[in-house]
Amino acid sequence: MRVYKTKDYEGMSKKAAFLMAAQINAKPDSVLGLATGSTPVGVYRQLIQWYREDLLDFSRITTINLDEYRGLAAENDQSYRYFMNHNLFDHVNIRKECTYLPDGTEPDSKKACREYDAIIKGVGGIDLQILGLGRNGHIGFNEPGDYFEKTTHCVDLTESTIEANKRFFQKEEDVPRQAYTMGIQTIMGAGTILLLVSGEEKAEILRQVICGPVTPRVPASILQMHPRAVVIADEAALSRTENLGE
Ligand code: F6R
Repeated sequence: MRVYKTKDYEGMSKKAAFLMAAQINAKPDSVLGLATGSTPVGVYRQLIQWYREDLLDFSRITTINLDEYRGLAAENDQSYRYFMNHNLFDHVNIRKECTYLPDGTEPDSKKACREYDAIIKGVGGIDLQILGLGRNGHIGFNEPGDYFEKTTHCVDLTESTIEANKRFFQKEEDVPRQAYTMGIQTIMGAGTILLLVSGEEKAEILRQVICGPVTPRVPASILQMHPRAVVIADEAALSRTENLGE
């Protein structure tokens, strides 16, 4: 795994945005795997700025998001569809019909997951995937477990994830208890993976991801096995990972 150390969140965002912009410019019809949460917001902000400066064109881009809460419709301001529209899609020239997330309103979870896998297959897989890191080591909503889940599946969110995500909701009871998430095999199938990590509170889990054993107990540790996985993390996040980082 290549590890880039940046001074802070802004540096992390800029570095990741440069790599994404390089991907978009080198292959204008790229399939980008996207994430929600606090981590990628700065990257999306930078990409929007470059789009406004006429440096980026999203007209032939396809996007595949990692996950969506089960039961939330696109209009719900806590849905990941809403987040993506608000933080990226509404501000660039992407064709909305080429932006995909699992269908949170589909009550039949098997159907929702099957359909999402068919979409990913249909677009030919993911060229570049960006990931945030959960405090428990999750990527997408692949929570710590006994084995790596392969394809899109329905997960029961762990207490740790509900606790971490309640900041986006009015009260903890409003946090959905389930989500549809891309699986580890699909994530690992991406041509390049960027794992973005910021902040001291993720320093210990990031140390385990980079230096610990590959185990489904720390789902992101599987990235050690990917030939083109890049960690972009700030000094605080790398504070327990000695001597690493270019
Ligand atoms: C979001 C996702 C999650 C987050 C992770 C970190 O689509 O799949 O894995 O990336 O929970 O969240 P933040 O960035 O809010 O710390």
